Amino acid sequence: ASAPLISPSILSADFARLGEEVRAIDAAGADWIHVDVMDGHYVPNLTIGPGVISAIRSWSDKPFDVHLMISPVDAFLAAYAEAGADMITAHPEAGPHFHRTVQAIRALGKKAGAALNPSTPETVLDYVLDELDLVLVMSVNPGFGGQSFIDSQLRKIGALRQMIDARGLSTLIEVDGGVNPVTARACVDAGAHALVAGSAVFKGGPEQYRANIAALRGQ
Ligand code: DX5
Ligand code: ZN
Repeated sequence: ASAPLISPSILSADFARLGEEVRAIDAAGADWIHVDVMDGHYVPNLTIGPGVISAIRSWSDKPFDVHLMISPVDAFLAAYAEAGADMITAHPEAGPHFHRTVQAIRALGKKAGAALNPSTPETVLDYVLDELDLVLVMSVNPGFGGQSFIDSQLRKIGALRQMIDARGLSTLIEVDGGVNPVTARACVDAGAHALVAGSAVFKGGPEQYRANIAALRGQ
């Protein structure tokens, strides 16, 4: 397997210096910038609105990988697209009409992703997989950084990789939660293309970001 793309989650950044933090992870080799949006309703935490994304957008040219943990989600898609999201990922568990959500993201000209909670099987994507650019496998229950990787999700990564390859699709598999150099290797071996990491990237401060990202790539 080749080296994974790394998408640092700015949830673990210093929010008082968010623009500089985004610039620092860009300079340290991040491939994407992962933005965790939480509404205090679908998940038990509150984080980042579109105004914050607009404010930090000019601090990096890398793609913004925006993970929406909000319900209902459709009414907010345009605001996140306008704020500067390149990829918009939503949870099929968070609403009754996920296919409509995917259509809406694509109509905004953005890449569309589906995030799957640990208890949700990959089979929920059977009839929408062909329209997705990305599947985000949650390897923790969404809501907080710094949780432990749930090993059972490796089997889901493998099953998704088989579905995607069998259909000849180029859908990317990204993994989110508890990713460190050890679990990163397991994810890549199972078939992941991209990894989100918060605490494992930001630990030790800006001097460490380059080494932390390289370690996640297995370098
Ligand atoms: C969890 C978020 C993750 C989280 C990852 O709800 O979606 O992106 O910030 O943080 P770590 O890497 O610390 O588990
Ligand atoms: Zn996330």
